[in-house]
Amino acid sequence: MQISALKENFNNENRVALTPDTIKLFQRLGLEVLIEDGAGNNSGYPNDLYEANGAKIASRDQCLKASICLCVKIPNDNDLQQLNENTVLIGILNPYENKKYFNTLNENKIISCCMELIPRISRAQSMDVLSSQANLAGYRSVIDAAEQFGKAFPMMMTAAGRVNPAKVMVLGVGVAGLQAIATAKRLGAVVSATDVRSATKEQVESLGGKFIMVEDEESSNAETEGGYAKEMSEEYKQKQAKLIAETIAKQDIVICTALIPGKKAPVLISQEMVESMASGSVVVDLAVEAGGNCPLSKEGEVVDHRGVKIVGYANVPGRVAKDASALYAKNIFNFLSLIINKDDKKINFNWEDEIVNAVTLTHEGKLRLEQFN
Ligand SMILES: NC(=O)c1ccc[n+]([C@@H]2O[C@H](COP(=O)([O-])OP(=O)(O)OC[C@H]3O[C@@H](n4cnc5c(N)ncnc54)[C@H](O)[C@@H]3O)[C@@H](O)[C@H]2O)c1
Repeated sequence: MQISALKENFNNENRVALTPDTIKLFQRLGLEVLIEDGAGNNSGYPNDLYEANGAKIASRDQCLKASICLCVKIPNDNDLQQLNENTVLIGILNPYENKKYFNTLNENKIISCCMELIPRISRAQSMDVLSSQANLAGYRSVIDAAEQFGKAFPMMMTAAGRVNPAKVMVLGVGVAGLQAIATAKRLGAVVSATDVRSATKEQVESLGGKFIMVEDEESSNAETEGGYAKEMSEEYKQKQAKLIAETIAKQDIVICTALIPGKKAPVLISQEMVESMASGSVVVDLAVEAGGNCPLSKEGEVVDHRGVKIVGYANVPGRVAKDASALYAKNIFNFLSLIINKDDKKINFNWEDEIVNAVTLTHEGKLRLEQFN
C-alpha cells in the first residue's frame, strides 16, 4: 500500500504534509512512501533528504494514485477527480469553506479526513493539529512584531543610558496566546494578557505575565464544555472595550489571538484605540483570517495607520514552515496509527473511536458529518 504527499499549490502555503523523519515511521506501518517532486522545497526539505530516508520521488499523477494521499490544504477539483475510489485523503481540508468539493469527494467515494477536527481530548493530543500549528503561530507573531518594532524588547542598562523594556499585551490566551506570552517574556518584554475565560489567569501568571480581565457574572460562565470561549453579550463587550482602551495606550505591542470557533473573531481593538497608541507601536492580528480582532487589519498585509503598524499576515504557521511541517507530519502519523491495523496492516475505520468518528468527513459516497450539511 502506498502513501503519498502532494506539493501544495496555494501561494502562501509553504508547509508540506510529510517530512523526511516520518518516512521510517510510515514504512513500519507497512507503507511505501511517495513524495511529489519538490513538495518539500519551500519548507526546507529538498528531494534528496526524502530519498536518503527511503521515500520515492514521484509525479503528481503517481501521488494521486496512492491509497493514502496527504496534503496540507485540499487539492483542487481536477486533482480530486483523479483519486481512486476509497483513497484516504488526509489534510486540513477546511470543510466550512470547501463545501464545493463535497460532490466530488462523494461521487469518487473518497474517504476524507479533516485533521483540524481532531477532538481536544487528552488521548488525541499527539494528533492535535490546531495546537501544534497555533503554538508556532503564537511564537512567530512575536517575532513578526519584533521585526516591525523599531525598538528593543529587553531592558538594557548601557553607558549611554537605559533602554526600557517593551510592553506587550496579548489578547486571547489559548494555545497561540500562551506561546506569544512565553516568547515575549523570553525576549525580555513586560507582558500582560487578557481573556474572557478566567481559567487562563493562572496560566498567564505561571508564565510571568500580568493578567487583566473584566470579571462579572457572565465571565464566570464564559467557557463552553469543550474549553472554548463563548460569544459575550453587548454589555460585557462594552466593559471589556473600556478595560482594553485604558490599557492599550501604554502598550508598545499588542498580539491579537482571540477566536470563537465557527464564528467571526471578536472585535477587541477599535480604530480609536489604535490611534491612542504611540507612533512606532505594533499590532499583530493573528485572527485576521477569521475577520480580525482589529478592523484595521488586512489579510496578508502590514498596514501603517498613523505610525502604528498593523500586521495581518495570513497562514502564520506557514512562516515557520520547517517546524510546522515536522509537527504536522507527526500529527498525521499518530492519527494514521489509529486507522492502520498493526498486525495485518489494513485500513480499518472504527466508528466507535471518538477520534476517527469526529474527523472522517466523507466515506462510501456519503457526507458523514451532519454539521457541514
Ligand atoms: N487536547 C487538549 O486537551 C487541548 C488541546 C489544546 C487546547 N485545549 C483547550 O482548548 C481551549 C481553546 O484553545 P484554542 O487556542 O484553540 O482557542 P481559540 O483559538 O478558539 O481562541 C483563542 C483564545 O481567545 C479567547 N477569546 C475568545 N473570545 C475572546 C474575547 N472576546 N476576549 C478575549 N479573549 C477571547 C479564547 O478564550 C481562547 O483562549 C483552551 O481551553 C485550551 O486549553 C485543549
